[in-house]
Amino acid sequence: MRSSGTASVVLGVFLAAAANVATTASDDSRPWIDARKSPDERAKLVVAAMTQDEKLTLLSGIMALPFTPGEKLPPGAELGAGYVEGIPRLGIPALTETDASLGIASALNVRKQGATALPASLALAATFNADLAFKSGAMIADEARRNGFNVLLAGGANLARDPRSGRNFEYVGEDPLLAGVLAGESIRGIQSQHIIATIKHFALNDQETARSILSANISDAAARESDLLAFQLAIERGQPGSVMCAYNRVNRHYACDSDYLLNQVLKRDWKFSGWVMSDWGAVRRLDTLLNGLDQQSGRQIDKQVWFREPLKQAAANDARYRTRVDEMNRRILRSMFAAGVFEHPPVKGDIDFAKNAQTAKLVSDEGIVLLRNLNAMLPLSKSVKSIAVIGGHADAGVMSGGGSSQVTLPNGVDRVVPMGGEGLAGTLLRKQVFHASSPLNAIKNKIPDAQVVFDDGYYPARAAKLAASADVAIVFATQWMIEGEDAPNLSLPVGQDALIAAVTAANPRTIVVLETGNPVSMPWLDATAAVLEAWYPGAKGGESIADILFGDVNPSGRLPITFPASERQLPRPEIPGFGRREGQIFLPSGEPEDGFDVDYTIEGADVGYRWFARKQLKPLFAFGYGLSYTSFEYSDLKIIGGKTLTVSFNVKNVGTRAGKDTPQVYVTQRAGRAGQRLIGFSKVELAPGESRKISMVADPRLLADWNESELRWHVRDGSYEVSVGASANDPRVSGAANLREQRLSP
Ligand code: BGC
Repeated sequence: MRSSGTASVVLGVFLAAAANVATTASDDSRPWIDARKSPDERAKLVVAAMTQDEKLTLLSGIMALPFTPGEKLPPGAELGAGYVEGIPRLGIPALTETDASLGIASALNVRKQGATALPASLALAATFNADLAFKSGAMIADEARRNGFNVLLAGGANLARDPRSGRNFEYVGEDPLLAGVLAGESIRGIQSQHIIATIKHFALNDQETARSILSANISDAAARESDLLAFQLAIERGQPGSVMCAYNRVNRHYACDSDYLLNQVLKRDWKFSGWVMSDWGAVRRLDTLLNGLDQQSGRQIDKQVWFREPLKQAAANDARYRTRVDEMNRRILRSMFAAGVFEHPPVKGDIDFAKNAQTAKLVSDEGIVLLRNLNAMLPLSKSVKSIAVIGGHADAGVMSGGGSSQVTLPNGVDRVVPMGGEGLAGTLLRKQVFHASSPLNAIKNKIPDAQVVFDDGYYPARAAKLAASADVAIVFATQWMIEGEDAPNLSLPVGQDALIAAVTAANPRTIVVLETGNPVSMPWLDATAAVLEAWYPGAKGGESIADILFGDVNPSGRLPITFPASERQLPRPEIPGFGRREGQIFLPSGEPEDGFDVDYTIEGADVGYRWFARKQLKPLFAFGYGLSYTSFEYSDLKIIGGKTLTVSFNVKNVGTRAGKDTPQVYVTQRAGRAGQRLIGFSKVELAPGESRKISMVADPRLLADWNESELRWHVRDGSYEVSVGASANDPRVSGAANLREQRLSP
């Protein structure tokens, strides 16, 4: 499926490295061009034709920047995240790689063209809408093609295990099923455009603080039932060509050097047939390839280009390396054939930004979550006389997240606020970017005759005075998150709590719009009339916010992450190692001298709402929660047991507006053991009075325990209690059914 118009002008510039690709089946010297053969067969044929030197070509790539020391950007390479040379003699195209899940990134300012900014992946998760994940994935892949890329480093699937983690906005929430479905569909959408997707960061890269030296420690069973399950489900659905291993260590082994993660779990148990690429600068020794790493990315920022000369020598002397070299090449080529990058090289061309922004808007429309709506404060009437709009750069646009995934809109229209910081990263990366989709303008457009006045919120007293003089006050509060840094706590930064408190005290008809990359605490909540969580809402975020405020869009987002009442409720009230720097000194073994442990055995597989259920803690807002301008009722629950649970029920719109609902199915007791797990969800659109029957069959792995000694899933014999609800804390109809004991392969 293509989401971009075929009417746009195609400039016809083929990637230089792809120019040698023949597309007919008649060339005897290149039998692998026959697309009727399987990707495996074709990959084998290419490897058989490669010289020993050629076999090293695909195994490493450079960071494709104009200014990194060490290596020059070869002709034909696109400026972007990475570049892996092709082999023209054999018609093998180069791999041209760009970040990331939210659109074509320009993080280091090397690409000036701009791109369509999707809302944060966390906002996509809040849509609970698999179709939108596919559609938005296809849209950014189309932009990648038109920019000359054939690999998108997209498919962030780490679980939001810590609500302060700097990259949660790039991931799809705290639940393995939700993350697996949405990351998988997004990958499927990307690859539908002949672009290879790279699910990442495998695995347990669940905090950013000192990410390259920490060790995430967890049992095999707990990992398989949580973080690894999200990856497993996403890989099954999306079949990504590549997996990017993470910076951190897992149980004291670097993720990119982990026999357990790469050889045992990924390649043996899950039968993953693509390739493992390293994260940039994450390779510390040659032997990582024996533990399953297939490609060294960003090689000039590693201590050595391990997968060139050192590998050549090792392969000349040792059959284990020779075997691996062939296998590494086979895996890379197999994914290239499977995605169709030989037959469908990227073609540079114009992008229909207006059209693509509408795809971003579909996501923001459904991803914004209405958290509070006292006395039906929202939707606002269009006959409102005056509104005070305060703070959050709402005059300019909507906040976005920083780091390698940073997208900027075309034409340099974003507002950029430099945040400072040491070195090159400080200059290039640490910038708040507000996408030019101004909520202020969008609000003004809704009510052209009303008085809409903006105050930047710099002085709470001044903002409060303005608020007191208006019918309604809307405060925009932002939380900027960036790769490589976590939030120290759940509080909004830079005194915004005080601003909101002052404004709500001056005008009780105050609406707070949050643009955050994570859950935040809300000490002012009871004084507000309404609260919207808009995350980082992307290219049309301002318009979506206004559409929801005035009821032109009925909000349907649901929280993909628990909003805790305080840090004290978390398994780790403080972020482990907070304030520590990345390590610089590595021992000969490749281990960091100043490494430290992060204990994930505390909550184990009980991430997010599961932890809150286990500890019987009441969050500020529960996973799955979100209000609508209409209401829904569930009835006629039927649960059939046996090998797995088959659940059906009716959902009815009992309000007066059309709206979308996300009924959620949770198991709450498994064969006598308490514990909550999401086993199904569905997004439905219903007219007033309309009802629909929903049926779903649970993936039995969601009902099972991982048995570490048998290396299999184990479903216990007994009764399973199920509830269908409007959030993890809001069961509406409940029942139970019996399951038979069974064991399932990994
Ligand atoms: C990030 C990856 C990204 C890569 C290339 C790394 O720092 O962790 O997510 O794909 O850089 O830009």
